[in-house]
Amino acid sequence: MPKQLSEFVYKKLSELISLRTGLNFSETKWQDLKRGLERAKGDFGFQDVDTFVKRLLSAQISNQEVEMLASHLTIGETYLFREKSSLEALQNRVLPEIIQERKNGRRCIKIWIAGCSTGEEAYTIAIILKKLFPDIQNWKLTISATDINPESLNKAKAGIYSQWSFRDTPVWVKEQCFTVNQEGRAVVRPEIRDMLSFSLHNLADDNYPSPDNNTEDVDIILCRNVLMYFSTETSIKVAKRFYRALVNGGWLIVSQTELSNILFAEFERVEFPGAILYRKTLSKKTQQNVVPARPIVRKTETRLAAQGYKTNSLAPPPPPTRIPRGTVSIRTRPVRRCSGTTCPCVGGRQG
Ligand SMILES: C[S@@+](CC[C@H](N)C(=O)[O-])C[C@H]1O[C@@H](n2cnc3c(N)ncnc32)[C@H](O)[C@@H]1O
Repeated sequence: MPKQLSEFVYKKLSELISLRTGLNFSETKWQDLKRGLERAKGDFGFQDVDTFVKRLLSAQISNQEVEMLASHLTIGETYLFREKSSLEALQNRVLPEIIQERKNGRRCIKIWIAGCSTGEEAYTIAIILKKLFPDIQNWKLTISATDINPESLNKAKAGIYSQWSFRDTPVWVKEQCFTVNQEGRAVVRPEIRDMLSFSLHNLADDNYPSPDNNTEDVDIILCRNVLMYFSTETSIKVAKRFYRALVNGGWLIVSQTELSNILFAEFERVEFPGAILYRKTLSKKTQQNVVPARPIVRKTETRLAAQGYKTNSLAPPPPPTRIPRGTVSIRTRPVRRCSGTTCPCVGGRQG
């Protein structure tokens, strides 16, 4: 970005990018924006950023161009079995509850991983499902993973990873769910790969929930480490759309650093060991079994409340959370290697 680019232009660019991608480039992030535009200009056929910026601000940019721009502005940081506490809640409490409830009736589960980056999170969910539930083939599973970045999605579809993607992953995952190719990279096994579908979706668009993009009647939405990059206004809109996308009693899982009483004011907060998950309002009958979480008040909450946003932080403190016995650990340390058909790390079953 040339020096002469004015504060006015930066502001206009930030507004445009926030509107079309949700990404927040407020003043403290202008240097990041500058670097992103430098990288993106070539894809748009420009040699200098000045002309590129003029083009961005002078005419409507297409959805394809938004994706192209986003691929230079988004952070794709991810790895398998990231943030284990919420995965453990999913594995040990949320999924067993859904399975128990539906095993004699409608045997289907719909999961949406929104902002899946290069796929590691989506494969983690598929692996958890496959390992935990031996008769999963008798269920209709829909695991849809989406992202705005087409390059990330291509990598996700290929499912080929370096050791870095396994940096905090139990050893059995690589051993059992991946093969190693000639370059020494891990390739996801087809039976795991086939459990998933990957597609382009921009969370800042207003085209969801809709059956057209498989975002209706979802049981579980994982959208971790995505909203933290969004402007508050977009995050609020996205949270509302997620609420509508979920079935009654459905779950929203965000990163534990993204918890917010304001953004997720419509949801019930449910506390698990080390993790708080959000749940769509339940019918009266099921409500009796829910443990409400302690209110969270963060600096951002105070700031948002001062701006007039409503908070649900008056929820009562929870009674002690009960954890069922015999739950499966997916912690990395201490590393446990699978030792056969009774190995507890895969729920007593080898794939
Ligand atoms: C830090 S990664 C998080 C990946 C994964 N969810 C995790 O927690 O490991 C953030 C992802 O959000 C995606 N993203 C950013 N803006 C988006 C938007 N408007 N719509 C969909 N995905 C978006 C980025 O492309 C990136 O892949």
